[in-house]
Amino acid sequence: MISVDALRALVVQHGFDAFMSDLMEALKRDYQRWDEFTKMPRPAMHVTGGVLELMPICDNTYYTFKYVNCHPKNPLTGKMTVVATGQLSRIDTGYPLMYSEMTILTAFRTAAMAAVATDLMARRDAGVVAIIGTGAQSEFQIKGLRLIRDIQEVRYFDIDAKAMDKFAENMKILGIKLTRCASAEAAVQGADIITVCTACKEHVDVIKNDWVKAGVHINALGGDCPGKTELELDILPRSKIVVEYLDQAQTEGEIQRLNDRERQAMVYGEIHELVKGTKHGRENESDITLFDSVGIGLEDYAALRLTYELSEKYKLVEEQLFIPELTDPKNLVASLS
Ligand SMILES: NC(=O)c1ccc[n+]([C@@H]2O[C@H](COP(=O)([O-])OP(=O)(O)OC[C@H]3O[C@@H](n4cnc5c(N)ncnc54)[C@H](O)[C@@H]3O)[C@@H](O)[C@H]2O)c1
Repeated sequence: MISVDALRALVVQHGFDAFMSDLMEALKRDYQRWDEFTKMPRPAMHVTGGVLELMPICDNTYYTFKYVNCHPKNPLTGKMTVVATGQLSRIDTGYPLMYSEMTILTAFRTAAMAAVATDLMARRDAGVVAIIGTGAQSEFQIKGLRLIRDIQEVRYFDIDAKAMDKFAENMKILGIKLTRCASAEAAVQGADIITVCTACKEHVDVIKNDWVKAGVHINALGGDCPGKTELELDILPRSKIVVEYLDQAQTEGEIQRLNDRERQAMVYGEIHELVKGTKHGRENESDITLFDSVGIGLEDYAALRLTYELSEKYKLVEEQLFIPELTDPKNLVASLS
């Protein structure tokens, strides 16, 4: 059992940056072996005010799944927008090995993934980040980007002033110049990297085409389910678009509003192709690159597997019996006596 307490202890012991870096390496390792995974676009159930999703995947050793939601109005009643739990099982016997909190792990893996993509796609000299949406994911995102670029300034905006206060308070320890902005337009001015992680289950033009200058890299993270996007559509034809997994991105990502022909013309590739080096992220200084992220099972697999390995190393797990231990495997009823 990896409870929130166990994960906190694990991250403290291993170090926040070390955990993020190791996760970036784990993601690259697993994207390199893309073809070894059995995968599927995640099944989703859309309900009033949100979505509930299951994210299964397996390779030759482990099967993992994550349960995750997105309910953008939850903060109005003091609840988080996104919460998650997950499981890692052996594939040879089907026996579960670990059940884990994944709310924090999701923030880590989303940030580590955006950092991997940014490293492959943003200009080498990118030093100014704009972040739009300073909610639960935001600090993790900046801490991930700091590991791959020399970030000099973070320009930030949220429609919720309290979320901006919280972000500034949490980020001041990093010693990076923090610029509070009055609008998303002001925040993206002069930015080399734009990270958008807002939550609203609608098509919203959080970033307008006119504001996006040549040479910028965009991480679009909040457009991640049908009917939920953050970029003005005109940005897409100007961008070199990279997705995680086309089968899932085409219904969930920014590209969901393109038709088949437009998608074929505009989507440059899947991120595993960049990780493997069979395609190149940025070919010149003026490319506008777009990582149209929705989050996929492979990223949760990498996070769960790393957590499993570190929990073994640090012995921080709470052992709980979730599967009956029987002397006769057919005598299940005996487990109740
Ligand atoms: N791509 C992925 O892998 C991935 C993973 C996790 C979360 N997400 C998505 O990232 C988004 C953010 O998640 P979170 O956990 O930080 O949510 P959150 O609710 O904690 O934060 C979202 C913030 O966006 C702000 N916001 C909403 N509309 C805005 C607008 N038009 N302009 C500026 N700010 C705006 C809200 O005030 C809020 O502070 C969600 O949409 C979530 O689904 C994506």
